[in-house]
Amino acid sequence: MNRIFSGVQPTNNLHLGNYLGAVRNWVRMQKDYDCIFCVVDLHAITLWQEPVALRQATREVAAAYIASGIDPKCSIIFNQSQCLAHAQLAWILNCVARLGWLNRMTQFKEKAGKNRENASIGLYAYPVLMAADILAYKATHVPVGEDQKQHLELARDIAQKFNNDYGVKLFPLPEPVIGGPAARIMSLRDGTKKMSKSDESDYSRINMTDDADTIALKFRKAKTDPNPLPGPECLDEHGHVKADAEAARPEAFNLLSIYAALSDAALADVVHRFAGQEFSKFKGELTDLAVAKLGPISGEMKRLLAHPDEIDALLRNGAERAQAIAMPILREVEEIVGFLH
Ligand code: TYM
Repeated sequence: MNRIFSGVQPTNNLHLGNYLGAVRNWVRMQKDYDCIFCVVDLHAITLWQEPVALRQATREVAAAYIASGIDPKCSIIFNQSQCLAHAQLAWILNCVARLGWLNRMTQFKEKAGKNRENASIGLYAYPVLMAADILAYKATHVPVGEDQKQHLELARDIAQKFNNDYGVKLFPLPEPVIGGPAARIMSLRDGTKKMSKSDESDYSRINMTDDADTIALKFRKAKTDPNPLPGPECLDEHGHVKADAEAARPEAFNLLSIYAALSDAALADVVHRFAGQEFSKFKGELTDLAVAKLGPISGEMKRLLAHPDEIDALLRNGAERAQAIAMPILREVEEIVGFLH
């Protein structure tokens, strides 16, 4: 059976981009794949995390997975640091990956900012750890948002170089699964920037735990432009939004894409439906839709988080199941590399 691996960092809470771009798609893939969903705490500490907050965020992400519909009985849910194969394989892959490859990673450049000399080595090696996450399970498919595409290409390069260097066919080349109107949800304050946990303005994102009033306020304040909503003139013959139309009105198309993703409709249908309308009315409908979809998830998250011991036990159990898959694969790698046991 094909195997999926994916993860979210426990840095603050999940936002609508994480949900629509990643977690929601995982829920749908559960029945067709053998699934492993990780809370990537080793990745989180590549930037400083307050320890108490990290522990809480780890539980919150696990709760969000379950509340969104991941079934911990069939899918494996665990936190990365509890399965030692990730760090061990990452070291071996650090010796396979090339500096030149990592130097091209745009996420490192964005996260390190101007003071690159002061960034952690972990932040630089982040994509190699990500490759280890995937390859430790010989995962075949990796569902993520658009922003992870470059990291997945690197994971494929690392897998291929390992296979070539040692003359083996050990690792399958993992396929990225990216798509739909929500692969890249943008900030509500600036349609050219992606919605992100690290944006200092909380108005830039909808958090999974926001209540109805907060969601309404954030959409009301969301940046738009002075024109009514665009109509079918912005679509090409395949029903895709024309690139120049989108570039001219990024905020409008971001809100329309969020509506399309939340309502499971094609973006073209949503464009037709709201063509020529005022933003204020559309934003009201968008709020109602978001509250209807996210309210039950945040309610369930609250219920789960009232019992942290149960979440911890569930993660421990998931880690045991994860180790049962990853440790034999790590052994195989170590054997190939020439480590004595
Ligand atoms: P993180 O926590 O930054 O993001 C988690 C997932 O959410 C997606 N995402 C978005 N999708 C659409 N629009 C957005 N604005 C948006 N922001 C985030 C991300 O693409 C991601 O799918 N490095 C990974 C975590 C990871 C991982 C892995 C993923 C670690 N190891 C192995 C897959 C396989 C990350 O981006 O986390």
